[in-house]
Amino acid sequence: MKKIIIATIIILNFFNMNAQTTFEGLKHHSEQPYLTLNNGVRMPQFGLGLYMIAEGDEAYNAVLTALNAGYRHFDCAHAYRNERSLGRALKDSGVPRDSVWVTSKLWPNEYGEGKTLQAIDRMLNRLGLEYIDLVYFHQPVGDYVGGWKEMEQAMASGKVRAIGISNFDVSDSIFDSLIKNAKIKPQIMQIECHPYAQRRHWQERCAAEGIQLECWFPLGGRDSKGEILRDPVINRIAKAHGKSPAQIIIRWHMQEGFSVIPGASNPDYIRENIEVMDFALSNVEMAAIRALDAEKRYFVMSYEDQVRWFSQWNPTD
Ligand SMILES: NC(=O)c1ccc[n+]([C@@H]2O[C@H](COP(=O)([O-])OP(=O)(O)OC[C@H]3O[C@@H](n4cnc5c(N)ncnc54)[C@H](OP(=O)(O)O)[C@@H]3O)[C@@H](O)[C@H]2O)c1
Repeated sequence: MKKIIIATIIILNFFNMNAQTTFEGLKHHSEQPYLTLNNGVRMPQFGLGLYMIAEGDEAYNAVLTALNAGYRHFDCAHAYRNERSLGRALKDSGVPRDSVWVTSKLWPNEYGEGKTLQAIDRMLNRLGLEYIDLVYFHQPVGDYVGGWKEMEQAMASGKVRAIGISNFDVSDSIFDSLIKNAKIKPQIMQIECHPYAQRRHWQERCAAEGIQLECWFPLGGRDSKGEILRDPVINRIAKAHGKSPAQIIIRWHMQEGFSVIPGASNPDYIRENIEVMDFALSNVEMAAIRALDAEKRYFVMSYEDQVRWFSQWNPTD
């Protein structure tokens, strides 16, 4: 009898453990806002950034923690070298593929006719997926005009649902050279953008072209050492709402209409950052944060250095 009771407890505990990983976060998912891109595809506005999160346990656990908290959008890149962990965690989670948005980025050595389609196939392989929701050109270096033709083909074939450009804010002429030669305009541009560098010029240029803006370093990034999180205006607003400074900044991004992908490996931060759907900033608070704009970038490498460094280093498969 004792043995039967112990066996029953073990079995019940097993199901309880599984219950914890059954994605009760879905309730958040249904509450999350979506953005409609210029090709009609709908993208969750909020997601998890995976830059500087190590391949293996760290990235795998971050993705599972995020899925469990209700995240349905992940921002990855070949250069982050953690696509395999993202794909593995997605598969193991059992969350339906079509309810998750997966972004990854190609590196400059993968741009060009005869190169980009093959690079997308290798990316699909690393991720273990049959299609990718969004593929970016990570840097405006190399043959991005030739490669864009194959990005367009990848979208037509259904392997990719949206195509975007990242860091094409280095100059108007670089941005224009891609746009002018594109048959299909990018759906989205990903650039550094946060309360201290709000990038109004690029907000206007993207709006004029029908391109969605997505913000990297949304909290200032690791190099900012939490400078924006300590800002007195942000902290005053945080106190008024009983929210953290990070939650106020994320909510500001969302009310501005940006897509936002805060990066975190700390599970408490991951869970905290998605708790931004249950309050709103007033017009006065939005204006107070807009007034913090100082065009203060935390990534300051010149374009010449970007060309030099980004052509020298290539991520392995
Ligand atoms: N296209 C590009 O060239 C490019 C460049 C940079 C980034 N990105 C993308 O954008 C994403 C976001 O940028 P990012 O991750 O570099 O910078 P970020 O999101 O601005 O900041 C990440 C840092 O903030 C910390 N953090 C997160 N949530 C916090 C919270 N609630 N309270 C206090 N600290 C918190 C994280 O800590 P822990 O790590 O300790 O959890 C990490 O140190 C990246 O992950 C990546 O997907 C793209």
